[in-house]
Amino acid sequence: MQDLYIQAEAFISSMQQFEDCPSNAEKWKQRLSSIKQSIETTGTYRHTKEELTFGAKLAWRNSNRCIGRHFWRQLDVFDCRTLNTKETILKALEDHLVYSFNKGAIKSAVTIFAPKSNIPESSDPVRILNHQLIRYAGFKKNDGAVLGDPHSLKFTEALEKHGWQPQEKTQFTPMPWWIQIDGEIQDPYPVLEEKPHLLTEVEIEHPENIAFKELGLKWYSTPILSDMALKIGGIHYPCAPFNGWYMGTEIGARNLADENRYNYLPKIAEIFHLDTKSNRSLWRDRVIIELNRAVLHSFDRKKIKIGDHHALTRQFEKFCENEAKSKCPVTGDWSWLVPPISASQTPTFSQEFDPTVVQHTNFFYQASPLEQDQNSRKSKGKCPYHIN
Ligand code: ARG
Repeated sequence: MQDLYIQAEAFISSMQQFEDCPSNAEKWKQRLSSIKQSIETTGTYRHTKEELTFGAKLAWRNSNRCIGRHFWRQLDVFDCRTLNTKETILKALEDHLVYSFNKGAIKSAVTIFAPKSNIPESSDPVRILNHQLIRYAGFKKNDGAVLGDPHSLKFTEALEKHGWQPQEKTQFTPMPWWIQIDGEIQDPYPVLEEKPHLLTEVEIEHPENIAFKELGLKWYSTPILSDMALKIGGIHYPCAPFNGWYMGTEIGARNLADENRYNYLPKIAEIFHLDTKSNRSLWRDRVIIELNRAVLHSFDRKKIKIGDHHALTRQFEKFCENEAKSKCPVTGDWSWLVPPISASQTPTFSQEFDPTVVQHTNFFYQASPLEQDQNSRKSKGKCPYHIN
């Protein structure tokens, strides 16, 4: 409880510092004393709408691994703390999808559901089990290979065990939403199969090589992370799906390229008639650049917002400079802020970052309700990026 007040105080003092008119000291003093009283009598406190909105923005600002934080003040925050039925929760998620896509001019948004209660061992009021609101399934084939995204393999298996019957199984089958309310798991809801207009995707084609599109590659428009926890001033929101827009390399240098993901580089090398016998020919490096050009080109053609690693790292550098000038230095995780291709060609490569993870207000990883293993929960509990 003492700890909660300390975190609330740290949050309120950041809020005061960032506000246009920080001089209104009396107002903040009063707010802190009402928080203190609330914690003493009820064990917790409730954020005002302004605190919730600013808190979510600050949590984004404090996210060490995010390169897009320059725009942290432009986050749209939807307060859904009172929703507690399956229908209203799913509707709020559909609304988030449409709002954030914004016909391609993607907007950063977060939808915040009820906070965790302070009663020990109580279930989370709302949880989304999916890693992202749009994500492709991974199906194990008879020969052991995976059809679709290997990252989704375990989750897909669990969904099928709980009754999900995909209309068809393809390389890019969107998964249903799977939510839990007050500890009760609900039936998977195949929203993107039932309402295909909500699924916005981009077919990947290459600016010059016309054979490229025969690979049938595509990716979805908007990354909406739905399994992380949001903490604001010590209050824990276990369900707060949020989105930004993609940086091309996330798709072109990881999702479609990693050997343990879609692993498309060897197939793309064939399209470009490259000899793949020896890595020393740098065929991988040549192909990964072509794939990344194709990703950016295809999103641009469809007028769906996407960043490239040159522009985003420069923008991030600017953000760090501005924040340092206003005496609010930024914390960061170098290994995430450096792009996975052409690292040395971007300014983050030669920058140093303070790796402190701000604990009172941030986004955190959290154990999935599907994950029963208490030991793995405990070991993750020691990582500063996991909520304890
Ligand atoms: N890297 C993840 C993906 O490829 C998305 C993480 C969030 N990315 C973002 N641009 N906001 O799906």
